[in-house]
Amino acid sequence: MTSMDGHSHRQDQSPAADHSSVAVQVRGLVKSFGTGETTVTVLKGIDLDVYFGELLLLVGESGGGKTTLLSAIAGILDIDAGELEVLGSSLSKMSAGTRTRFRGQRMGFIYQQFNLLPALTAAENVAIPMLIQGVGRKEAIARGRLMLERVGLGDRTEFLPRNLSGGQQQRVAIGRALVNEPQLLVCDEPTAALDGPNGQKIMELIRDVGRAPDRCVIVVTHDSRVFQFGDRMAELTDGRIVGIHPIQREATV
Ligand SMILES: Nc1ncnc2c1ncn2[C@@H]1O[C@H](COP(=O)(O)OP(=O)(O)O)[C@@H](O)[C@H]1O
Ligand SMILES: [Mg+2]
Repeated sequence: MTSMDGHSHRQDQSPAADHSSVAVQVRGLVKSFGTGETTVTVLKGIDLDVYFGELLLLVGESGGGKTTLLSAIAGILDIDAGELEVLGSSLSKMSAGTRTRFRGQRMGFIYQQFNLLPALTAAENVAIPMLIQGVGRKEAIARGRLMLERVGLGDRTEFLPRNLSGGQQQRVAIGRALVNEPQLLVCDEPTAALDGPNGQKIMELIRDVGRAPDRCVIVVTHDSRVFQFGDRMAELTDGRIVGIHPIQREATV
């Protein structure tokens, strides 16, 4: 089991969440695309709380607005109405520049298609968020190599993405997402391009390194094999959260 933080003993998966402490609070979120007759309202008033210490799964039909909701939470997308409080700050009250900085320092992202830069080595890809934060190139790459060791790729640091397997590329992407120690990790179908065993390993890694008492993870998925890794599951249907419930799992000792 890979562990970055010595918390792998939390494998019992009983929700570690402190339900008094909200990491992400969404209220009345509305978002439409298009104008006039072609307007489509994708999010029709989303209310959602995500707590520190939990891994929340977000499920729902394709085209239902899951990626749109993640993008709003990440501050990448302007919303039409509602309130978004992320890690104690109101996103809508921030200037665009402040929001970009906030995102770079406090959030990490993992995508279905990994989104690595093909001309850069694994270590250089992981270094990018640090370079953006102003860390010097040498130090950023050195720290990138250390991060790759923590995600089990210490022997692949100088490889280009095309010479890595899908599972390995997603590990690089996880390293890149976590290198600035974000409190909020947002994953959009992180296992969709991976086979079963690789998807399993990637979810273990996301759970073990991303979820801690002072952090939280949101994973969009429609891969039922991923469900066991969540603490709670929220279902998005027809622009609304229609259900949210804890995930039952068998006790493992
Ligand atoms: N930038 C955009 N412009 C116009 N329509 C969009 C845009 N982004 C998403 N949509 C539409 O919003 C709906 C929800 O998309 P999305 O959030 O990607 O769904 P999901 O991730 O649940 O599959 C879809 O109908 C999609 O076509
Ligand atoms: Mg999507």
